[in-house]
Amino acid sequence: MEIFSSSSGRYCVGLTVFWAALVLSALYWRPGGTSPSAAVPFGLGIFRAGAPAGTAEFDLRDFGGTGNGVAVNTRAFGLAVEAIRRRGGGRLNVGAGTWLTGPFNLTSHMTLFLAEGAVILGLEDETKWPLMPPLPSYGYGREHKGPRYGSLIHGQHLKNVVITGHNGTIDGQGRAWWTKHRRRLLNYTRGPLVQIMWSEDIVISNITLQNSPFWTLHPYVCRNVTISGVTILAPVLEAPNTDGIDPDSCENVLIENCYISVGDDGVAIKSGWDQYGIRYGRPSTDIVIRNLTVRSVLSAGVSIGSEMSGGVSNVLVEDLRVWDSRRAVRIKTARGRGGYVRNVTYRDLRFDRVRVGIVVTTTYNEHADGGFDPAALPLVENITFSGVRGRDVRVPVRIHGSEDIPIRGVTVRDMSVGLHVKRKHVFQCSYVEGRVVGPVSPEPCANLDVYDEAGRLVKQSSSQNATDMDYDL
Ligand SMILES: *[C@@H]1O[C@H](CO)[C@@H](O)[C@H](O)[C@H]1NC(C)=O
Ligand SMILES: *[C@@H]1O[C@H](CO)[C@@H](O)[C@H](O)[C@H]1NC(C)=O
Ligand SMILES: *[C@@H]1O[C@H](CO)[C@@H](O)[C@H](O)[C@H]1NC(C)=O
Ligand SMILES: *[C@@H]1O[C@H](CO)[C@@H](O)[C@H](O)[C@H]1NC(C)=O
Ligand SMILES: *[C@@H]1O[C@H](CO)[C@@H](O)[C@H](O)[C@H]1NC(C)=O
Ligand SMILES: *[C@@H]1O[C@H](CO)[C@@H](O)[C@H](O)[C@H]1NC(C)=O
Ligand SMILES: *[C@@H]1O[C@H](CO)[C@@H](O)[C@H](O)[C@H]1NC(C)=O
Ligand SMILES: *[C@@H]1O[C@H](CO)[C@@H](O)[C@H](O)[C@H]1NC(C)=O
Ligand SMILES: *[C@@H]1O[C@H](CO)[C@@H](O)[C@H](O)[C@H]1NC(C)=O
Repeated sequence: MEIFSSSSGRYCVGLTVFWAALVLSALYWRPGGTSPSAAVPFGLGIFRAGAPAGTAEFDLRDFGGTGNGVAVNTRAFGLAVEAIRRRGGGRLNVGAGTWLTGPFNLTSHMTLFLAEGAVILGLEDETKWPLMPPLPSYGYGREHKGPRYGSLIHGQHLKNVVITGHNGTIDGQGRAWWTKHRRRLLNYTRGPLVQIMWSEDIVISNITLQNSPFWTLHPYVCRNVTISGVTILAPVLEAPNTDGIDPDSCENVLIENCYISVGDDGVAIKSGWDQYGIRYGRPSTDIVIRNLTVRSVLSAGVSIGSEMSGGVSNVLVEDLRVWDSRRAVRIKTARGRGGYVRNVTYRDLRFDRVRVGIVVTTTYNEHADGGFDPAALPLVENITFSGVRGRDVRVPVRIHGSEDIPIRGVTVRDMSVGLHVKRKHVFQCSYVEGRVVGPVSPEPCANLDVYDEAGRLVKQSSSQNATDMDYDL
């Protein structure tokens, strides 16, 4: 394509080396060097080369930008992005310094490059944040009816966008927003830090995202998204809804090598809310999450839901460490959601000082409005956990299905989790159909069939629907 021919060369080589390294590390990732296709349980083409975004170089200072932490750079970002758009693509260099700005949009074939020591700092004044219509699959601003604030860095209908650098920072100065939200001073839903909508071929790597007003990184209805080497930070208490990454109605997503410590879920895979999400009907599918370290004191390391009304399928969560957190991995849904969560594989999980390790909840009754259909029951099926380790965990497993929303096709194998306090009934189940295979400790609930390692049935469950929940633990 002609837009790549005005090459400055260096960045192309850098990117090629970067991708080669990514591919190699993927190939040699697992002990024994299992090939990625064997390691991934569905036909995911996740090792695509990231087409480099346009390579003509632009410097924010040439558009009137000043990185002194005081000057407002909204206009400079707008002009720079417009110049890149006119050129058909390019790389916007943001050098060391603190670049205060209101929200701005990206364009296609663009790289936003944050040098070491570069900080893009969001304006706290909400009147400088444009309002946008609610997301069609949510119907609602999420927190308030009607419009919502856009994101600090935003994009719609884009192709081939890269946000990267030498670990520069995008900081949303969320504290002012969290405080106003708590005091009920905001009339609209808070905006995410980075939100890319209806786009494809997105790479976000080697940067730090912090103090988002709301969800941090929100790819919405995107295809081919790679998020790698990103650090996401927010206070673990009193930073409401600062989820790390929310792939929402997205397809073919890779999230890897990230460190996330935030005030809500580390990662939450979503696909719309109740009747709005059902109507919009866009699933999240083919998602790989691996080598993440996550801390979530109030919520969970990696979640699916609770907004999953467009369906979520084919998810692999691998090599995940969750520490000092309330929950490690969680699937949350409710009556009225409709949709499904199916074909989810978790393997090589490590829980350190986590209250509840594995959680499935079917009573997450948070609804946009009274218009949801109570007969819209979500399906939760074919969920596998293997290689689960941990220490200092209170309740390793709590799978809470109900008569309306039973959990089907659960498999647990190779699990050994150390308890905070040794006691019984810490592997809790209700309305669960499935099996444990080989050694599993602590002792599994009676709802599950028991198989030996050779795959022979040892004991068939006669009590799939037994309920053994103890929320006091
Ligand atoms: C997404 O990536 C896959 C696998 O590399 C590729 O075959 C496909 O063309 C890409 N799709 C889009 C929309 O870019
Ligand atoms: C960014 O694009 C969106 C969607 O086209 C638009 O609503 C918004 O006003 C734009 N924001 C800015 C700062 O130009
Ligand atoms: C990532 O950041 C590090 C540290 O600043 C830098 O050395 C490295 O070149 C960056 N890698 C990429 C691919 O940008
Ligand atoms: C990037 O910066 C963050 C925040 O300063 C830091 O915690 C992280 O370790 C850095 N990552 C790398 C790879 O240097
Ligand atoms: C919210 O609405 C009220 C009543 O219209 C208005 O007084 C207030 O300034 C608004 N606050 C914000 C942050 O927009
Ligand atoms: C795993 O992710 C961390 C960042 O959290 C990174 O430092 C480390 O190199 C990654 N491991 C591999 C094998 O890529
Ligand atoms: C269960 O999910 C796994 C992993 O996605 C998949 O390979 C398998 O075909 C699924 N089995 C059923 C019965 O759906
Ligand atoms: C996912 O699950 C469904 C139903 O359980 C099954 O038909 C389908 O083959 C599975 N898909 C993959 C890719 O494993
Ligand atoms: C368990 O409950 C489901 C409905 O949720 C029902 O279809 C099934 O027959 C029950 N199983 C047993 C063994 O009672």
